[in-house]
Amino acid sequence: MPTRHVQIAMYSNVNGVGRLFGGRLMEWVDIAGAVEARRYAHSDVTLAAVDSLEFLAPVQLNEVVALEAEVTWTGRTSMEIRVDSYVERLDGSRHQVNRAYLIYVAVDPDGRPVSVRPFEPADGRQRAEWEEACGRNAARKARRQHQGPSADRA
Ligand SMILES: CC(C)(COP(=O)(O)OP(=O)(O)OC[C@H]1O[C@@H](n2cnc3c(N)ncnc32)[C@H](O)[C@@H]1OP(=O)(O)O)[C@@H](O)C(=O)NCCC(=O)NCCS
Repeated sequence: MPTRHVQIAMYSNVNGVGRLFGGRLMEWVDIAGAVEARRYAHSDVTLAAVDSLEFLAPVQLNEVVALEAEVTWTGRTSMEIRVDSYVERLDGSRHQVNRAYLIYVAVDPDGRPVSVRPFEPADGRQRAEWEEACGRNAARKARRQHQGPSADRA
């Protein structure tokens, strides 16, 4: 079951033309992703990298933003979490405004990485996502090897 998080774009969250600040949405994405990772790992987690984050459509003042975070892949201590963000209209319909993939690492109280249980896709959709995530993980590793340790860290 994905982690769900709901917010309203209030005055303190929008810019001079009434659009939600991208950084504020990133904060909400991080919170939803971290809670999903914590629930999965049953431990504290730390954000190691943002693989990608796409703003697909703007959010306007007073709109409801619903975020859904779901594990898509695990390594030994790391987890990839997909966070999808939607604007919900009054009639209940919604459209997607953001998609992000974040990498969290499970840590002990001293901040040292600890292992997580392997992710087991429950159905065809999760298996397809897991296979895509394996590809992203391979690309991340190649990037880090090529560019050095800080290449894809957020
Ligand atoms: C993330 C962190 C715990 C990794 O520690 P480390 O000493 O590099 O540990 P390791 O090399 O054993 O890597 C642990 C896991 O993190 C993954 N990892 C580390 N850096 C990564 C990166 N930049 N991108 C993706 N994964 C990364 C490794 O692949 C490994 O995954 P695996 O166990 O599933 O194979 C450490 O770098 C850290 O604390 N960074 C700061 C995190 C932080 O403060 N976040 C908040 C941002 S304000």
